[in-house]
Amino acid sequence: MPRHFFVTGTDTGVGKTTVTVRLMQQLIAQGLTVIGMKPVASGCEWLDGRWQNEDVRQLTAASNVKAPPELINPYCFEPAIAPHIAAAQAGVAIDLNIIQEAYTQLTTLADVVIVEGAGGLLVPLNSSQTMADLIQALDIPALMVVGMRLGCINHALLTVQVLKQRGIDFCGWVANSIDPQMSMPEENLQTLIQSLQQPPLLQVPFQESSP
Ligand SMILES: Nc1ncnc2c1ncn2[C@@H]1O[C@H](COP(=O)(O)OP(=O)(O)OP(=O)(O)O)[C@@H](O)[C@H]1O
Ligand SMILES: [Mg+2]
Repeated sequence: MPRHFFVTGTDTGVGKTTVTVRLMQQLIAQGLTVIGMKPVASGCEWLDGRWQNEDVRQLTAASNVKAPPELINPYCFEPAIAPHIAAAQAGVAIDLNIIQEAYTQLTTLADVVIVEGAGGLLVPLNSSQTMADLIQALDIPALMVVGMRLGCINHALLTVQVLKQRGIDFCGWVANSIDPQMSMPEENLQTLIQSLQQPPLLQVPFQESSP
C-alpha cells in the first residue's frame, strides 16, 4: 500500500467508511500510526456543542493518533445532500486549498493518512470542481471500493476510466459485499478481476448487523 491514499467508491453507501476503518485497523496492527480524514461530510447532527458526522466519528474512533477535528473534517454540512448543494445552502464555497492544507498538516502527525471521499468520484464540490480534482490536488493514489451489487461493474469501470484519464494513480480495489441477495456474485467478481486486470486487495463479506 502507498503511504497516504484516497478512498473512493462506485457510489454513495458502498462501504467506503467500513473498508477504510478495516484498512486502518490492519495498518495499525502493523505498528503504523494512522489517521482517517473525511474532508467533506454532509449529514451532521448537533451533539455536545458541535456538528458531528457519523463517518467522521467512525474515522476518528479508528485513528490511533489524535488530531484536531477541523483538520480531520474541514467541511461539515447539516443536510445529507450533495455536498456542493449543502455548501451553497450554507453560503460556503468548498475550497480545495483549505482541504489540502489540512491534509498536509495531518501527514505530519501520522505515518498514514487515509482520505475518504463523499459519494463517488465525480461528485461536485463546488461550481467547477469535483472529488477527482481534490484527489489530483492532494496528489495521492486512489483506492476504489466496489459495493458488490447489480450495476457495480459499470460503475467500477467508469470510475477507473476517469482515474486513468486524470492521471491519478489507481492503487487497487476492494470488493465489498453489501447485498446478500446479489445474483451471481462470483461471476461478477470474476468479471471485475478481468476488466480491472487485477484481483481485489481485499474481499469483505456481507456482515449481518448485530441485533
Ligand atoms: N460488508 C458489509 N456488510 C454489511 N453491511 C455493510 C458492509 N459494508 C457496508 N455496510 C453497511 O452499508 C452502509 C453503508 O456503508 P458505508 O457507510 O461504509 O458506505 P460509504 O460508501 O462510506 O457511504 P458514504 O457515501 O455515505 O460515505 C452502512 O450501514 C454499513 O454498515
Ligand atoms: Mg462513508
